[in-house]
Amino acid sequence: MTSTLTRTVTSPVNTLDFVKVTESAALAASRWMGRGERDAADGAAVEKMREALAEMDISGRIVIGEGERDEAPMLFIGEEVGRGGFEVDIAVDPVEGTNLVANGLPNSIAVMAISERGGLLHAPDSYMKKLAVGPKAAAFVHIDAPVLENLEAVANALERPVTDVTVVILDRPRHADLIAQCRHAGARIKLISDGDVDAAIATAVPNTGIHVAMGTGGAPEGVLAAAALKCLGGNFMGRLEPRNDDEATRAKSMGFGDLNRVLTINDLIKGEHVVFCATGITDGDLTRGVRFFGNNARTHSIVMHSDGTVRFIESVHRLGAKPFKPSSSA
Ligand code: FBP
Repeated sequence: MTSTLTRTVTSPVNTLDFVKVTESAALAASRWMGRGERDAADGAAVEKMREALAEMDISGRIVIGEGERDEAPMLFIGEEVGRGGFEVDIAVDPVEGTNLVANGLPNSIAVMAISERGGLLHAPDSYMKKLAVGPKAAAFVHIDAPVLENLEAVANALERPVTDVTVVILDRPRHADLIAQCRHAGARIKLISDGDVDAAIATAVPNTGIHVAMGTGGAPEGVLAAAALKCLGGNFMGRLEPRNDDEATRAKSMGFGDLNRVLTINDLIKGEHVVFCATGITDGDLTRGVRFFGNNARTHSIVMHSDGTVRFIESVHRLGAKPFKPSSSA
């Protein structure tokens, strides 16, 4: 089983098959950029992602998707996808940052992670407190450590003063205290309106200018970010933060007995083999957004494998009947 899966997820051909899935979603969502309709963008991406998954030679099971079967017509949790083959679990977010697309803002991506069966934590649709850093700081931070201690650990690991460390935080009232602590420590802060998956990954990609991501966001997004950081050798830690009793009960019914438990990167991603793909919808820190030119479109994706390979893939998609003409202008 493992050797078969290894072949599946390490083959470049199959890796490219995976990226077609996020490319399809990004292409569809990008048509809705700035049009103020987040649900339409999401719906278009979901439909195309599902079509692309249906073409894959896998026996896939959605473990993180658009919601439970009764609330999501497609890519619901438990849905079987693919036309048969290797058994894999799949986490998807066809549009991570629906408001970003609706408002034409940076850092929206179409995202997917794949692992062997049981390899991805089935996280409830709840909140999660998160901490993400890149490889150099991976061993020196802890979600339970004081903010200042973590910032100093990142600064030491990166051999720079805390004043040269940039923290990404979702701009939410619940983060007022966290923001105050980061400011008091002297760190630089990038407040984002949405899209904490992209932000978490950026901590582990050189030249993004982002060194640590902190704060509370969606739990499913936490699993997706952890999959990417596992491939990149970074670190991600989380702790569920249910917003109400219903969410707490739901989490418990899913097997989270101790809601206070720290979820390490290996709790979130148990799989030995993981593939993570993201395609830019709008321009971002990691990837460029979809560009249309002539009858063609260009997409930019990041695809990584837990074996340590990281690929940036630029693809041109012929959308019309006319032959593809290379163009440098986008
Ligand atoms: P959507 O793509 O589902 O809109 O999520 C965007 C997002 O910003 C995530 O990146 C983040 O984890 C979550 O929403 C934060 O939730 P909230 O907006 O409730 O603070």
